[in-house]
Amino acid sequence: MIALVISSGTNMAFPTIMGKVIDRTAGREDAGSRIPDKVFFAGAFGIFACGSIASWVRTYSIGVAAHRIMQRLRTKLFGRLLEQDVAFFDEHRTGELVSILTEDTEIAADTVTGKAANGMRSASSALNGSIMLLTLSPRLTLVSIALLPLVGVGAMGYSRRLKRLAARQREDAADASTFAEERLSQLRTVRAFGRERAEAQWYRELCDGSTELARRAASARGAFMGGLSASANASLVAVLYFGGSLVARGAMTVGDLASFAMYSSLVGLGFSGLSSFAADLSKGLASAERVFMLMDATPAVPLDEGLTPPLESVRGELVLEGVTFRYPSRDKDVLCGVDLRVPAGAILALTGPSGHGKSTLAALITRLYQPTAGRISLDGVDTATLSPSWLRGAVGVVEQDPVLFAGSVADNIKYGRPGASAADVEAAARAANAHQFILEFPDGYNTKVGQRGRQLSGGQRQRVAIARALLWDPPLLLLDEATSALDAESERLVRDAMEKLMDRENRTLLIIAHRQSTIQKAHTVAVLRDGRIVESGSYADLIARSGGELAALMSGGELAA
Ligand SMILES: Nc1ncnc2c1ncn2[C@@H]1O[C@H](COP(=O)(O)OP(=O)(O)O)[C@@H](O)[C@H]1O
Ligand SMILES: [Mg+2]
Repeated sequence: MIALVISSGTNMAFPTIMGKVIDRTAGREDAGSRIPDKVFFAGAFGIFACGSIASWVRTYSIGVAAHRIMQRLRTKLFGRLLEQDVAFFDEHRTGELVSILTEDTEIAADTVTGKAANGMRSASSALNGSIMLLTLSPRLTLVSIALLPLVGVGAMGYSRRLKRLAARQREDAADASTFAEERLSQLRTVRAFGRERAEAQWYRELCDGSTELARRAASARGAFMGGLSASANASLVAVLYFGGSLVARGAMTVGDLASFAMYSSLVGLGFSGLSSFAADLSKGLASAERVFMLMDATPAVPLDEGLTPPLESVRGELVLEGVTFRYPSRDKDVLCGVDLRVPAGAILALTGPSGHGKSTLAALITRLYQPTAGRISLDGVDTATLSPSWLRGAVGVVEQDPVLFAGSVADNIKYGRPGASAADVEAAARAANAHQFILEFPDGYNTKVGQRGRQLSGGQRQRVAIARALLWDPPLLLLDEATSALDAESERLVRDAMEKLMDRENRTLLIIAHRQSTIQKAHTVAVLRDGRIVESGSYADLIARSGGELAALMSGGELAA
């Protein structure tokens, strides 16, 4: 701040000193008040040196402050984003979120530091310059500001137009980056269908939209800048013309006129700086608004508010009563009044045709979404009153299509429990039938799995995910059985791993199953169709029922043998 004042102060002194230099050489200054040349120039250079140092300090401290603010905004925002509901991510595009996280935080930080400092400097040049102009010559000042109102009107229209264009440009950029992110991360699908050129063309079209907007913004900026420099030139000509006549009449010295001309260009720069600051400010405010809108978004399902009974006391009885659910983005109920009871330590296989709500039910049990109606309870306690993060510690999940993170195999198995020992990791991997193939990798447990675990096969990924859930060691485990991407051998290994889990006594298991062998091993089988449990009982009873749902699914080939 001090540096800012000093550096703009020396900037302001510059024209006066220059005027004095001219008058000094022209011999116009009063001989009586004359300071010796040596002292005068030493003083002038001293002032300039102070100005340079202050300018360094200002640039440095603003640069550092801007970065700190940006980092703080980013880390805070990222933390907030991770706390948002799963439904939030159904509605927001990743590209948009990433651009707010990276670009808007930067713009907002730059606005309150560098841009604000520039604005203050401009304001001070405009203000102090105007005062200097008035003291040098009030009449000439009037001449020089004659065009100012016109410039002001232009600046306002310009900034409004720019704001509109910038908003649309952002939308387009978010579309394009979401598109690019998705296509690049799913390159195999693009390649499989030979869509490389077509996708490139599509991307070009997405970008072309913003090119047109950029062209319009640039044209507006050009028009404004052109107008600004024309009016600056016109006012300079007017100043020199009238000033010249004042000098000729002896009402002003040449040096004062030169100072005046320099001050008026400083004032001009000040005003143009202010107008671009106004544009920057509106852009910065828009960015800040987006950042704070996300920052203030409160998840409907908070992370860790609610009861946290001791985990050891959990028996694992799960009861669903009249559970109804509709995705916020859809207008039809996916689940309509589901009633289901899984006794502690039991194995329940949930089966049914694809797309009828099985995975959705699993998501509701861990409260990734909030049921629209009905109640889910664990050991008789409504899960809505439990702390969601505690609940997720008690209910482990192996998703249908699990995703691993870039890092080593061991890192992925330890994801929920980073402090786990190597022995525990290995035990979990053995239980999940993963130990063998991991040992065959060149680096064993330290082998990198690539982004999203892409360097592993589907069956390997599935088994690493099972190991990850086992190390988490929850009293209740939800397994969404993988149906795709598994060859016969890894399918057998995955199934074997799951069946080993089913043999363990002390854990409640809810398995979303598609295979007869899995279903057969469960104590109870429930069939979900059209969002309702249409049948439940033991496998033997259900399969024997003539006209039963399970029997129909089996004979219809919808479930694998
Ligand atoms: N995130 C989501 N947003 C909106 N609809 C979804 C979402 N996930 C799944 N659905 C819809 O919910 C229905 C049930 O899906 P799901 O529970 O995955 O079925 P299943 O696991 O039985 O195959 C489907 O019609 C699907 O289109
Ligand atoms: Mg599913």
